[in-house]
Amino acid sequence: MSFEPQEPKKVIKYEDVRIYTDAEINNYTEEELKAFKIKYDIPDLEELENGPWPSFVADAKQAALHRSKLPADRMLIDPNGVEDMLGQLQVSFDEGETHWKHGGIVGVFGYGGGVIGRYSDLPERFPSIAHFHTVRLNQPASKFYNTDFLKSLCDLWDYRGSGMLNLHGSTGDIILLGTTTEQLEPIFFEVTHVMDQDIGGSGSNLRTPSCCIGKARCEWALYDTQEMCYEMTNYYQDELHRPAFPYKFKFKFDGCPNGCVASIARSDMSFIGTWRDDIRIDQAAVQAYINGEYAPNAGAHAGKDWGKFDIKKEVLDLCPTKCMWMEGGELKIDNAECTRCMHCIAVMPRALRPGTDTGVTILCGAKAPILDGAQMSTLIVPFMKAEPPYDNIKEFIEKVWELWMEEGRNRERLGEMIQRITLPKFIETIGLPATPQMVKAPRSNPYIFWKEEDVPGGWDRDINEYRARHKR
Ligand code: HEM
Ligand code: HEM
Ligand code: SF4
Ligand code: SF4
Repeated sequence: MSFEPQEPKKVIKYEDVRIYTDAEINNYTEEELKAFKIKYDIPDLEELENGPWPSFVADAKQAALHRSKLPADRMLIDPNGVEDMLGQLQVSFDEGETHWKHGGIVGVFGYGGGVIGRYSDLPERFPSIAHFHTVRLNQPASKFYNTDFLKSLCDLWDYRGSGMLNLHGSTGDIILLGTTTEQLEPIFFEVTHVMDQDIGGSGSNLRTPSCCIGKARCEWALYDTQEMCYEMTNYYQDELHRPAFPYKFKFKFDGCPNGCVASIARSDMSFIGTWRDDIRIDQAAVQAYINGEYAPNAGAHAGKDWGKFDIKKEVLDLCPTKCMWMEGGELKIDNAECTRCMHCIAVMPRALRPGTDTGVTILCGAKAPILDGAQMSTLIVPFMKAEPPYDNIKEFIEKVWELWMEEGRNRERLGEMIQRITLPKFIETIGLPATPQMVKAPRSNPYIFWKEEDVPGGWDRDINEYRARHKR
């Protein structure tokens, strides 16, 4: 295994690839928009144009108006998709039921996932959404864009899709919401050949990994979440595009225990940044917090008067392990007892910083309720260095996959397999020793399995030998 330098990214210039002129993009006036009615009555949806939050109905109507004014030969799918979507949604509001048929299996050649097929069950009434497939596009790590990329994508999607997007899907993908089967291969060709952009995952495979904003803009990032997310996405492209697993599998990368991408709850393998040396303390800055020069929590609670900052009340007494104290006007931390919860650092970001010997904690098994109940990930590797080429981490991932791909039952998430085969069996099979950090508390029941080799005399016993000592 080696860390391949990534090929240089293609720089996309919107002017080179654009499909629509400025006049075509801005083809309606504010007055037209105010007066615009779609061809169906949508009273419940129009109710949702009121109120201060950005209205998806207002946005959709804007897109519908724009499309209705584009010449018909300037779009490759039926231009009424947005109006039909609103019309069908109103019917669903009326009846309290979905009007999408079950399932749908479409895609692009070479891949086994990435497109979620969908068909209206009212195709005569809403013909332009008879097909309404969703394409998942793999987002850039942490979702940084430039406008050249986004405008190019919007032109492509207006041309070959409904013009409606979800930025972003919960897993992280850019969601292109609604197109026909015939457009899938052309869209795939253009995103790959023109935009240097691949589709994301769906089905029983590695789904699109995602990460917090990390070192790009956060002082707490304990490893480069974006680089690791990008590397793992590239390295495991095959597992992402061609389902080979018993069920879906997700990676998420959090730079620190604050969990801004919620990896512990929403990924089968959760990578959470941590450190194993001392919290760095700037005593002068601690004083500045005590004196009120710096706002606690970087001003996050400024909306309400919580009184003068009280370091004892707001930091020392809230430390979960009570390992902090003030001594001679200085803040002290017994780092051996610190569980690295981030609380003190979050309250005094200008005075406290995580250590410098950093890496990741790896947790496994998070999943939603179906079938056996919701799980958050459970700690498997307390600490591992996380630096390119990440060979140590790839080795761990592949051991877990090797086991789960063989042993996992059909549609059994990793978390369920661990419950079924047990945590001791899981860690033993992937070659990890049991450590106290792997459990919150030892078991309370005594139904303990022993291995025969660990028990003197083994399991083969002779009843007569026993009877010689104990009469029947
Ligand atoms: C009452 C309505 C529905 C029920 C009870 C239902 C039930 C299910 C169930 C049990 C699965 C398997 C899920 C899993 O193993 O995690 C599934 C998969 C799926 N359903 Fe539905 N479904 C419904 C409606 C829909 C609708 C409206 C759509 C599309 C618009 C849809 C699209 C899909 C797709 C694409 C999958 C496969 C997902 C995957 O493999 O990742 N379903 N459905
Ligand atoms: C002096 C004789 C025995 C005593 C004092 C005794 C006592 C107990 C006690 C206290 C329990 C636990 C009950 C519970 O968890 O609520 C138990 C469970 C059990 N006993 Fe006995 N027992 C005796 C003989 C036997 C014999 C002769 C058999 C079978 C031939 C037997 C089979 C079982 C079984 C199958 C269980 C249930 C184990 C489980 O919960 O998985 N016991 N016994
Ligand atoms: S998870 Fe931690 S490192 Fe990542 S953005 Fe949030 S606070 Fe910063
Ligand atoms: S990080 Fe948490 S556990 Fe560690 S010293 Fe700060 S408050 Fe205490």
